[in-house]
Amino acid sequence: MFNDDGPKKDVKTARIVPEIWHNGQFIGWDDARVHVMSHVLHYGSSVFEGIRCYSTKRGPAVFRLREHMQRLVNSSKIYRMDHEWSVDELCEAVVGLVARSGFEQCYVRPIIFRSLDEEHPAFGVNPFPNPLSRYIGAWDWGKYLGEEAIEQGVDVCVSSWNRLSPNSMPVMAKSGANYMNSQLIKMEAIKNGYAEGIALDDRGFVSEGSGENIFLVSNGKVITPPLSSSILPGITRDSVIQICRELEIPVVESGLQRAALYIADELFFTGTAAEVTPIRSVDKIKIGEGRRGPITTQLQKAYFEVTKAERPAPGPWLTFVNEHKAAGESNGHRPARQPEVAAAEQLESSRQANAAAVLPAD
Ligand SMILES: Cc1ncc(COP(=O)(O)O)c(C=O)c1O
Repeated sequence: MFNDDGPKKDVKTARIVPEIWHNGQFIGWDDARVHVMSHVLHYGSSVFEGIRCYSTKRGPAVFRLREHMQRLVNSSKIYRMDHEWSVDELCEAVVGLVARSGFEQCYVRPIIFRSLDEEHPAFGVNPFPNPLSRYIGAWDWGKYLGEEAIEQGVDVCVSSWNRLSPNSMPVMAKSGANYMNSQLIKMEAIKNGYAEGIALDDRGFVSEGSGENIFLVSNGKVITPPLSSSILPGITRDSVIQICRELEIPVVESGLQRAALYIADELFFTGTAAEVTPIRSVDKIKIGEGRRGPITTQLQKAYFEVTKAERPAPGPWLTFVNEHKAAGESNGHRPARQPEVAAAEQLESSRQANAAAVLPAD
């Protein structure tokens, strides 16, 4: 059940997109370089996103693109990264990169960071003198917690490391620096033979995995920690909450004690990379039957069907890359609409994205 080959394992990368988007240009992989004295390398000053593009019958489709780009813009705002880059422009860049790649599916990584002005170098902590850079790369990525994890589930532990407290590092921002905390959680878990660690918040309530939100199932009810438990406002988390509502599965956000994990009927992680991954044990305590439970199975199935456009999404969640080019519209879920309808929908979707990023779902 517990193996020790974790340190050598990495997520399977099938292929890498040979171009990187940079400020409206597509540059070669080898040309996407930064100076070693860039602010980001010394002080962790980056914000980024992780987005999946799925293969569908209508070609590649980027999942919840606007919501991810809105979170990126929000993250940069929290860190006082002043720029004029709009969500629309960033979305277009992703669509352009995926279209040029010819990939049917991939993982997309936009990043904004403080670099170095080589004419006027600045080396202090104060980030303001350093220019902002933005890039988008992409690659074809396998299942984040292992191919078999999606069906079998993963063995995890509660980490000895706490998640960041809200007034030290804002977890609401997806910043590179936050992932030093994630790395401590992940390394400890791997070294101890687990696939992942679950961090508690600074009060001792369940927070999240090093790169995933967590859900618990108890007596037919789905429960997930609220944003106040120092979690990243996960877009997959929001998707699963909305899918629960559609399926009429009761879902609540609630603070959770560590012990609640051990006696849950089912547990699962959510994340762009991890998608919906069942958890079969915590600290070597078997969860439920020790395998993927019925509600996890139902939600996982619905989630994968939505991402593959085999089932209608609760909202305009898929950007069909090929149709986007042809029709010039931001979402391919529906046939071409009147411009004013499209504009109203865009407003609504950006409102929802903001709400998802800032407010609890209930
Ligand atoms: C710490 C952390 N929590 C949660 C998530 C899940 O977020 P999302 O579903 O938006 O990918 C991620 C993944 O980015 C993460 O790194």
